[in-house]
Amino acid sequence: MDIIKCGDSRKLLKELEDRSVQCVYLDPPFNSNRNYVLTPDNKLGFKDKFDDDEYISLIEPMIREIKRVLKDDGSLFFHISADQMFIPHLLCKKYFKKMQPIFWQRSRSKNNTKTKLGACTDVIFWCSKAKSPKFNMVYQPLDEYYASNSYKNEDSRGNYALGHVVYTATQKTENEERLYEIVHNGNTYKPENGWRMSKEDLESMIEDDRIHFPKKPNANLYKKIYKHESKGKPATDYWNDIHSIAMGAEKRKYPTQKPVTLLSRIIEMSTDEGDVVLDPVAGSGTTGVAAKKLNRSFILFDISPEAVKLCKEQTSKDT
Ligand SMILES: C[S@@+](CC[C@H](N)C(=O)[O-])C[C@H]1O[C@@H](n2cnc3c(N)ncnc32)[C@H](O)[C@@H]1O
Repeated sequence: MDIIKCGDSRKLLKELEDRSVQCVYLDPPFNSNRNYVLTPDNKLGFKDKFDDDEYISLIEPMIREIKRVLKDDGSLFFHISADQMFIPHLLCKKYFKKMQPIFWQRSRSKNNTKTKLGACTDVIFWCSKAKSPKFNMVYQPLDEYYASNSYKNEDSRGNYALGHVVYTATQKTENEERLYEIVHNGNTYKPENGWRMSKEDLESMIEDDRIHFPKKPNANLYKKIYKHESKGKPATDYWNDIHSIAMGAEKRKYPTQKPVTLLSRIIEMSTDEGDVVLDPVAGSGTTGVAAKKLNRSFILFDISPEAVKLCKEQTSKDT
C-alpha cells in the first residue's frame, strides 16, 4: 500500500510504526544558503537558508524517528553535498552503528566557477543499526582500467578475471566443513584458512572448468570470472556512472530533483521486492517512481503542497 502525504516530516514520521520500513532515502535541503525555485511564481521550490542550530533542529528529529521506524536490518541513505557533509556526518554517527559514505560524482566539470573549485560531488551516508544490513550486490559498468587489468587470463571460453575461493588469514573460517582437501591432477589443495564454498560446489565448478589452477602446485586456486558473463564490476563507494538530471535524459520537474537511476541503485541494494521504502522529504517523488518500478511499496512525505501534487503525478504514470 503506497502513501503520499503533505506535512512536516518531524510530525508525520511519528505516525509510522516501529520497525516497519526497510529503506529510507533522505535528501533534505542541503543548508546551501540559497532558496530554490523552478517556476517564476516561486511555487515549485523550497527554502535552504538556515543557521547551523536551525539546520540541526530540522534534521535531527527526522533522523531520530527514522531510526525508530527502520527494521533492524534496514538502511538510511542520507544525501548531502560534500561541502555541507559535516553536520549530517556527526548526526548519522550519533544515531547509527554503521555508516559508510558513498561518493556520487554528479557532474564532470563546472565551467562557470571563477573563484573556487567546481563542486561535482555529493555524499550519501549509508547508515544502519545492524553491522550487516540487508544488502544485494549491485554493479557498475566495467571501466577501461578494470577491464584491461582484471581479465588477463584466457581459456577456450574467453577472457577471465580471478575471484577468491579461499579465505585469507584475517578472515579464517571457523566452519570445520570448509577445511576439506581437494586432489586434482595429483596435487593436493587444503588451504589453511578454509574454503569460501562447500566441497560439493567447488567440485562442480572444477568439473565445469570454472576453477583456475595456477602453474605452481601449492598456489591458491581461484574461480574464473568471465568478461562476457560479467554484470559489471561489483559496486564501489565511488559512483561516477550516474548522471545528474541536468546532464541526463530525464526532464527536470523540480529543483534539486535526483535521477531515478540513482534511487534505483539504492533501492535495489538495500531492499527486496515487496519491502517498504520511505522518503520523508520527497520533492518530486523520485523515490516513489523508482520504488514502483522495482515492485516495492513507498511512503512519501513533503511539506510543500506543490511537491506533493508532483509526487502524485510522477508516481501515477506507467513505469
Ligand atoms: C532536496 S529536495 C528533495 C528532492 C527529491 N529527492 C527529488 O528527487 O525530487 C528537499 C525537499 O524537502 C522538503 N522539506 C523541507 N523541509 C521539510 C519538512 N520539515 N518536512 C517535509 N519535507 C520538507 C522540501 O519541500 C523539498 O521538497
